[in-house]
Amino acid sequence: MPVKEVGITVTEHLLREQRETPYATGAFTQLLNELIVAAKIIHREVSKAGLVDILGSTGSRNVYGEQVQKLDDFANHTIIRRVMHTGHVCAIASEEDADIVEVPQEYPRGPYILLIDPLDGSSNIDVNASIGTIFSIHRRLKDDGPVTLDEVLRKGSEQVAAGYFIYGSSTMLVYSTGKGVNGFTLNPGLGEFLLSHPNITMPERGKIYSVNEGNYAYWDEPVRRYVDYLKTPDPETSRPYTSRYIGTLVGDFHRNLLKGGIFMYPADRKDPKKPRGKLRLLFEAAPLAFIAEQAGGTASDGSRRILDLEPETLHDRVPLFIGSKDDVVTAEKFLSGEL
Ligand code: AHG
Ligand code: MN
Ligand code: MN
Ligand code: MN
Repeated sequence: MPVKEVGITVTEHLLREQRETPYATGAFTQLLNELIVAAKIIHREVSKAGLVDILGSTGSRNVYGEQVQKLDDFANHTIIRRVMHTGHVCAIASEEDADIVEVPQEYPRGPYILLIDPLDGSSNIDVNASIGTIFSIHRRLKDDGPVTLDEVLRKGSEQVAAGYFIYGSSTMLVYSTGKGVNGFTLNPGLGEFLLSHPNITMPERGKIYSVNEGNYAYWDEPVRRYVDYLKTPDPETSRPYTSRYIGTLVGDFHRNLLKGGIFMYPADRKDPKKPRGKLRLLFEAAPLAFIAEQAGGTASDGSRRILDLEPETLHDRVPLFIGSKDDVVTAEKFLSGEL
């Protein structure tokens, strides 16, 4: 893979990728460009959130029973509005919408299905910690006609692209179309995302673990044993690992993507309504698992590869162990009882 020159715009990078992809129509390039416009609009609101009436809750709850924050709603509607008009999408599924949002038949429609977590880390909006937007793109199975649920409930391995925006100390776009992972940083002066992290690869092993230890009492015994193992001193295996937890999946994942380590959101017995943990398969685990694997890492539900899981419903939750390959494999060995 040729080293890509740092500093080129994402559009130039997309056009290069497009030239390398036979029969590429440019549809994906245009779709990603619309997502970028949406992210710039969200970034503008995020960067002045304390000054405008965009903080706090809308007072309504989403299908997960979560308080919908004003920025959740704003991000969701911004992305849907932008993408609806590209003519490349036939449907959008969102963490914030109970059902598929189909592009009306009278609109120009295309072969892509977009799945989004429009605003990840909502609980961090009001306290100015990193938040993000996660997207996943599938190609529909039929040529035309109404989009059916089976075209959306797809394995993560069938994604044609996935990525995220992270609104942190800088705003970045990280995405993959299946040919490695590249990171772009928004230059606010230019209003352009510039290639800053070409060909990101995740270290085989890390020294960081990321989990909400407040749930320790609700985990199964093997999970507790694994986390205790990470905290037990052993210079041979760089233990104890450092603990880092932002509470925004995109922020915790992005740090481990660059530095190595493992992020976990195990199943817990805290809420009988959520026996499979909190994170969503279609909107969070699958897109980030795609990125992790493209960067040489891995992602599992504790025993099965995330990208192999067949979703049963739009809003399936799944336990998530994601990050450096050796770390996830060790976690799986604890969960299987081998260690
Ligand atoms: P979202 O804001 O899209 O609902 O996602 C929040 C998720 C994820 O970002 C994070 O890893 C997790 O919630 C944190 O959950 P806890 O607060 O239970 O640790
Ligand atoms: Mn939410
Ligand atoms: Mn989320
Ligand atoms: Mn969200």
